[in-house]
Amino acid sequence: MIDKATVQKIKDTADIVDVVGDYVHLVRRGGNYMGLCPFHNERTPSFSVNRRKNFCYCFSCKKGGSPVNFIMEKEGLSYHEALLHLAKRYGIKVEERELTDEERRRQSERESMLVANEWAMRLMEHDLSETDEGRDVGLSYLRQRGVTDEAAAAFHLGYALDRSSHLTESALKAGYQLDVFKRLGLVGTSQQGRDYDRFRGRVIFPILNTSGKVIAFGGRDLKGGLAKYINSPESELYKKSNELYGIFQARAAIVREDKCFLVEGYMDVIGMWQSGMKNVVASSGTALTDGQIALIHRFTDNITLIYDGDAAGVKASLRGIDMLLSHKMNVKMLRLPPEDDPDSFARSHTPEEFRAYVAENETDIIRYKAQVMLAEMSNDPQQRIAAIRSVVESIAHIPDVVSRDVYIRECASLLGISEEAIAKAVAKAVGEVMEKRRRERMRREFPDAAEPRVPPSAQSAYAEREGGAAQAHTGTGAAQAPAGAGGLRAQVFPLARAEQALMRYCVRYGYMPFCSQVDEEGKEREIDVLEFVREELEVDGVEYTVPLYARMAAVLEGMRGDFATAFARERAAADAEAARMRAEGIREIAARDLSVDDIRREEERLGAAIAERRDGRLADFRKDWPGRELLSHEDDEVRREAAELLRERHQLSHIYSREAPAEREEDRLDILVPRAVIELKGEMLDIRLKELMKQLSEAVAKGDAEEEHRIDLEISDILSMRKEIALDMGERTLSHP
Ligand code: UTP
Ligand code: MN
Repeated sequence: MIDKATVQKIKDTADIVDVVGDYVHLVRRGGNYMGLCPFHNERTPSFSVNRRKNFCYCFSCKKGGSPVNFIMEKEGLSYHEALLHLAKRYGIKVEERELTDEERRRQSERESMLVANEWAMRLMEHDLSETDEGRDVGLSYLRQRGVTDEAAAAFHLGYALDRSSHLTESALKAGYQLDVFKRLGLVGTSQQGRDYDRFRGRVIFPILNTSGKVIAFGGRDLKGGLAKYINSPESELYKKSNELYGIFQARAAIVREDKCFLVEGYMDVIGMWQSGMKNVVASSGTALTDGQIALIHRFTDNITLIYDGDAAGVKASLRGIDMLLSHKMNVKMLRLPPEDDPDSFARSHTPEEFRAYVAENETDIIRYKAQVMLAEMSNDPQQRIAAIRSVVESIAHIPDVVSRDVYIRECASLLGISEEAIAKAVAKAVGEVMEKRRRERMRREFPDAAEPRVPPSAQSAYAEREGGAAQAHTGTGAAQAPAGAGGLRAQVFPLARAEQALMRYCVRYGYMPFCSQVDEEGKEREIDVLEFVREELEVDGVEYTVPLYARMAAVLEGMRGDFATAFARERAAADAEAARMRAEGIREIAARDLSVDDIRREEERLGAAIAERRDGRLADFRKDWPGRELLSHEDDEVRREAAELLRERHQLSHIYSREAPAEREEDRLDILVPRAVIELKGEMLDIRLKELMKQLSEAVAKGDAEEEHRIDLEISDILSMRKEIALDMGERTLSHP
């Protein structure tokens, strides 16, 4: 973890002109710098760098952003890694948060596993070409499959000698401890307790992560054995569902082509890579997971699935597409001739032929699904309904309303059903999808809580709103925001919901201590929820748009003085009570017939109980005070809203207070409050974005290039801010255990 102040320092120090200048020859033009875009191939510069805004942008491919964004994109790094990269570039010392002993142990364990894997990869690479068996068996197999030396080197292909303890003994000789290799699944132990190599007589496909570290191996059998492939087991290093074979080798090409091909097998990746389609990765024979999609999504929005042309391949291709669609990816499908797989197809065609085939046969995934379903559809009405429902469900997974509409229209004509009927079905399915997602989110965030109970009426209301074409709204906060900010207020003030959610925390917990902060003089200071929210909003110049909430925020701030007085009085009362209780208790203890030691113990116990009671009383006072004051405020509207916000019948609290009392809302403020802030900011940006989009199309219509340019810049500014906010939120949530 990098602390917040250092993150800020890195962001403040990193200069976009320097950072981009490492990659692009920049020429000063007007107030900006221009250069050839590093993200796509071009002859005339369309990459502009604005030093004042510390921001870059390509007018042609639209990539760009802050220095951090640029490095993430260019180096294929995560947010965190990009910050470290920049820190290094500018010699900023990063004090990563002190690791706990447990974390340190894990980190060094990970490191030793990586070292061992790397060593094993080198050994097997060496054995492939430098031993007789490697050449005769492994290399000749690869040659026969048409694998070039270049590909073998790029993918670090290797060969595991067909001996029971070649790797085991070499490792010992090289000074390694075997238990690391056991955890990595490279060495097994027999029932007799003998250690042996798990990969034997196999061609080895090392699996690298995005930064090129070996995290696992796949080994292909060459002797017609039972298991065609054996793979490394899951380990500290290798979480199968988050990795993709080939990602390291494909990364740059995916970014360059802004597209990723997804295939099934190791050999498919290598075959396509050789024929020049380098932007290819494999899910290694398993169904695609969320983690894998997110990995691809770091590099592109566009994914094309290529599965075998046979029936099993078609079935497989239809699995997992709903998940892809819900990640807002543009998903296409490429169907190969029935006798081919990507590997054989790549080898039997020239790269040009392959590209032409892609261009001609790539189909949008929903269209593809509808076609497949249509072809399979018999006259059995039951089956027809099931097929249509399945297409409808896929459409429902598309987050964007406009695209949904396009598909509804298209599928209506494809399937021969009225648009209205499909639209209705989709609207209903959207409700279900949203509900499912909300549940998943809840489960993720509150893993111990029981299933939230949502009355069916709420569900259908939700479905209607979500499906209702014109003003459907997909803000993530919507599902959790309390009722009441809907209706008229929501129409006049689109941010009302998000603001209400935030104000609710202020009213309920405003004066509760929230976190400590270091001020300019380096002094640590504890701030409360209210101060935290105020500062977070001030940083980005955000103000409440609903006048009532602005007023309430002012009232809450204005009461600080009164609160201090009231709190002092309460503390005096609590102290007096404690003193009285202590006196009484001591008298009582004295009246009992106890030894001196027992008396001391009893008095200690009494003291602790009294202190706890006093602290609890003060904490309650602190918590309840703002709400209580607001409930008796002179302003009718403030009073009414406060009552609404203090009501227990809020979804979260009523679910969790009853069914999992340990998960009290007030114990999770560290996550809930920042999230409410971030959601408000996110929604604000969305609104601004919509305005800009409108302005942009007006500018385009008018042919006002300068205006268009300006709007474009602001749009990508906002897009990157949105991304940053989301990342910031992720960091924050992650930084709490
Ligand atoms: P394939 O059987 O299509 O393998 O399985 P392939 O890579 O194309 O190999 P060739 O062309 O027959 O030599 C696709 C992927 O499924 C995983 C592997 O990742 C493989 O690349 N798989 C398959 C296994 O993990 N274990 C198996 O037993 C089979
Ligand atoms: Mn194959």
